[in-house]
Amino acid sequence: MSSANIESLKLGTGLSDLTDSEFLKLAEYIKNNYGISISVQKKQLVSARLANALAQNGFKSYTDFIDKLLSDKSGQLAAMLVNKITTNHTYFMREKEHFVFFRKEVLPYLEKNVIDRDLRIWCAACSTGEESYTLAIILSEYFGSKMLFWDTRVLATDISEQVLKTAAAGIYSADKLSVLPPEWVSKYFIKISHDKYRVVDNIKNNVIYRKFNLVERNYPFKKKFHVIFCRNVMIYFDNETRKWLVNKLYDNLELGGYLFIGHSEFISKDESKFKYIMPAVYRKI
Ligand SMILES: C[S@@+](CC[C@H](N)C(=O)[O-])C[C@H]1O[C@@H](n2cnc3c(N)ncnc32)[C@H](O)[C@@H]1O
Repeated sequence: MSSANIESLKLGTGLSDLTDSEFLKLAEYIKNNYGISISVQKKQLVSARLANALAQNGFKSYTDFIDKLLSDKSGQLAAMLVNKITTNHTYFMREKEHFVFFRKEVLPYLEKNVIDRDLRIWCAACSTGEESYTLAIILSEYFGSKMLFWDTRVLATDISEQVLKTAAAGIYSADKLSVLPPEWVSKYFIKISHDKYRVVDNIKNNVIYRKFNLVERNYPFKKKFHVIFCRNVMIYFDNETRKWLVNKLYDNLELGGYLFIGHSEFISKDESKFKYIMPAVYRKI
C-alpha cells in the first residue's frame, strides 16, 4: 500500500494524532491505575492500539477520550483502555520447567502437608487461560480419582476482561495445542471444528476466572495461597511497583508456599524474605 493510502486510512478514523502531552496524561493514568509503565518510545504503539477503538466510539481526539475516561463512572472506558494496552501474549507450556517442578516437587509437598485438603492455587495475570488450564490438567493428572477428596480449584485472574472471556470459553486452535502431550489433548480437549478444540468441562469447572488488578492496595482474599503463579506481568511494572507486588504476594502466601515468576523477572535478596529455589521459583519459609 502506498504511504498516501496509509495516511488516508489514518485520516479516515477522524481522530487527531496523539500529542506528547496527551500521551503523558494517558501514561500517568495507566501507571497509577494498573501499575503498567509505558515509556515515551511506546507512543506510536499506544496510538496504534487505541486509534481504531477510539474512532469507532466517536472520539475526535485523545483529549476528548481522556476527559470522558476520567469522569466515566461505569468503568467501560477504563475496561476498553485495559483491553487495548495490555500485552497478553502467552502459550501452552511456556517456561515448561515450572510445570515439571510443580508436578514433581510442589504437589507431593502439598498433598502431604495440606491437612484440610483445600488447595489454594492462584494463577495471577492468566491472560487467555493457557497457564491456568495447564495447572488444572496437572492437578487432575496428579490426583486422579483422589480429586474427589480435594478442593483443587484454581483461581485465575487478569485485569483484561477481553482475555478473561477467551479464557472462560476455553477454545484453542489445534496449532496452540500442538505443544501439549497428545494424550492430554485427547483426554482434556474436545474437537469442535476442523481446527478448534474446547477444554473439557471437568477441567473448565476447576478454574475460576475473575477480574483482579494486581496493584489494588487491599487484596480481598480470605485465606492465603499455597502456590502463586505470577509470570510475565511484573516486566510491565517499574521497580518500585514490582517490589511492592513481590511483598504483597509474600503476604498472601502460606508458609511453605511457592511463588513462580517469569524467567525474565527477578527478585533480589534484599527486597523480600523469599527464598530462591530455582530460576524464577521462590518460597516463603
Ligand atoms: C504477557 S501476559 C502473561 C500471561 C501468562 N502469565 C504467561 O506467563 O504466559 C501478561 C498479563 O498480565 C495482565 N496484567 C497487566 N497488568 C495487570 C494488573 N495490574 N493486574 C492484573 N493483570 C495485569 C495482562 O492483561 C496480561 O494478560
